[in-house]
Amino acid sequence: MARMIASYSTATPAGPRTVRKAVVPAAGLGTRFLPATKATPKEMLPVVDKPAVQYVVEEAAAAGLDDILMVTGRHKRAIEDHFDHAFELEQALASKGDTVRLDAVRDPARLAAIHHIRQGDPLGLGHAVLCARHHVGNQPFAVLLGDDLIDPRETLLSRMLEVRERYAGSVVALTEVAPEQVHLYGCAAVEPVGEEGVVRVTGLVEKPAREAAPSRYAVIGRYVLDPAVFDVLERTPPGRGGEIQLTDALQDLATDGTVHGVVFDGLRYDTGDKADYLRTVVRLACARPDLGPGFADWLREFVRELEDGARGTRKGRRAA
Ligand code: UTP
Repeated sequence: MARMIASYSTATPAGPRTVRKAVVPAAGLGTRFLPATKATPKEMLPVVDKPAVQYVVEEAAAAGLDDILMVTGRHKRAIEDHFDHAFELEQALASKGDTVRLDAVRDPARLAAIHHIRQGDPLGLGHAVLCARHHVGNQPFAVLLGDDLIDPRETLLSRMLEVRERYAGSVVALTEVAPEQVHLYGCAAVEPVGEEGVVRVTGLVEKPAREAAPSRYAVIGRYVLDPAVFDVLERTPPGRGGEIQLTDALQDLATDGTVHGVVFDGLRYDTGDKADYLRTVVRLACARPDLGPGFADWLREFVRELEDGARGTRKGRRAA
């Protein structure tokens, strides 16, 4: 188990932590990745040799969250199976004495207490979070989007949990994006709190036009939420795209000054986007001690070939 988790840095909190539960919404339709996601959840697409959502669960576990609720939908059985035991496979590997693969098969079920709930219809991220209300209860909790991967070398979630301990309320993760990209994200109006890398969020707009964006701070898929969000979500009407938007509920909370943002400038990948998915696989493959050196050599050769091709001086070299 340590082999798999060790890639995520653990940051043990100084005192007892109030946040123990994480919610992983993974019930979206994944239309941007069709046709691969016709019968396979996008969260199950492999990133090197693990499904994307396993990195997300490993990140939560590494931050000390030991109770994880996956919000899934129809066609998402594979996610439930992945975090369950696979007796036949385990027996076959055990009888061969293949302990390395046996550990790899067992690891997902050992990361935390993992629960599942069905969203029914994918009525939006806000609705997916609301589905977790009964399980979460009246405690603050983390939300990690199942297709949003933070590089295992980063410690964003631990920083957010620590900010929640000091400021209470809710905490969102913000990253600065180019002006032409703000329309793809929830965008935050912010003011300083006198602390490096932490801001107060004074307003939020879902996918604004470039001219209407209050800043270049985009909300990315990590949240630590106060349970007050549930009451707000209950009365949040469908917004953009006819979906119940988490951003709209957070906008409501932000007017009370209870939402803070942790600014993140590290590595993050949207594995629900085809191009970003490819970048994720390449980056994480290069970082792997077992695969990285050989793969990076091949990649260098391949890039040289591309450059030669672009210059029209290709000498028939093939990066096989
Ligand atoms: P996305 O907007 O990226 O998911 O939602 P999507 O709708 O599946 O993607 P496309 O645009 O059709 O490709 C962000 C996260 O919220 C979850 C998704 O599974 C994803 O992890 N989500 C979204 C839900 O769980 N339920 C929903 O109703 C919507």
